[in-house]
Amino acid sequence: MIYLKTEEEIELLRDNNLLVSQTLAEVGRHIKPGVTTKQLDRIIEDFIRSHGATPAFLGYQGYPASACISVNEQVVHGIPSDNIVIKEGDIVSVDVGTFMKGFVGDSAYTFAVGEVAEDVRQLLEVTKEALYRGTAQAKAGNRVGDISAAVQDYAERFGYGVVRELEGHGLGRKMHEEPGVPNYGARGRGPLLKEGMVICIEPMITMGNRAVVFERDGWTVRTRDRKPAAHFEFAVAIRKNGPDVLTDFNIIENSLG
Ligand code: MF3
Ligand code: CO
Repeated sequence: MIYLKTEEEIELLRDNNLLVSQTLAEVGRHIKPGVTTKQLDRIIEDFIRSHGATPAFLGYQGYPASACISVNEQVVHGIPSDNIVIKEGDIVSVDVGTFMKGFVGDSAYTFAVGEVAEDVRQLLEVTKEALYRGTAQAKAGNRVGDISAAVQDYAERFGYGVVRELEGHGLGRKMHEEPGVPNYGARGRGPLLKEGMVICIEPMITMGNRAVVFERDGWTVRTRDRKPAAHFEFAVAIRKNGPDVLTDFNIIENSLG
């Protein structure tokens, strides 16, 4: 069942996703060589709680932290740890969820730590652009497959892998609602997009092969070939006149300077 949101509900979702964006901006300022992903998780949890929300991931299906922090070959769902120390040249994907006012916020951004290799910098740019191209298809009358195909076509143009084991999703009172939003697929296929739907689009793109391994910690997903992967996620409301992006990457990028 796909829940269509009212104007008021979309605004509550916007409040949540704005807080997620502000949280990502705050943590981005602390992503420096020497910091542990556990320390970053603590910053995220404190920031969310001090703004009157709770971390939506904490306890979700038993998840043990407030954010997913995935470094280099980790694709998504990296568990923050005292043993993972950020170093120059890393890429760090931070996925954050909030819960307040009865609704959920959910967005992700991959940060570069200092100078990263040129091919890795391109991976980040292409993944973000794939997200933008998918988002441009998120309008009433299109289908989920139009989003999926736009993401896949753009990423594969560069020889990158599109991870298939995980996908985007509807967003509302629950973090994962229908429909699923795959990052690969065919134009014109899949569920019809209607005004009032709110979805998360979240390409997970690999520099090498698209195959992933699910680690034995029960959460972390990494590339099989251990090449780097990037992950960017937007929450988007489907409106008559096109996509209404509820996440704000400008807040993050302006704070990085
Ligand atoms: N943000 C992820 C998603 O987009 C969910 C995180 S899994 C959790 O689906 F367990 F950490 F919550
Ligand atoms: Co999501």
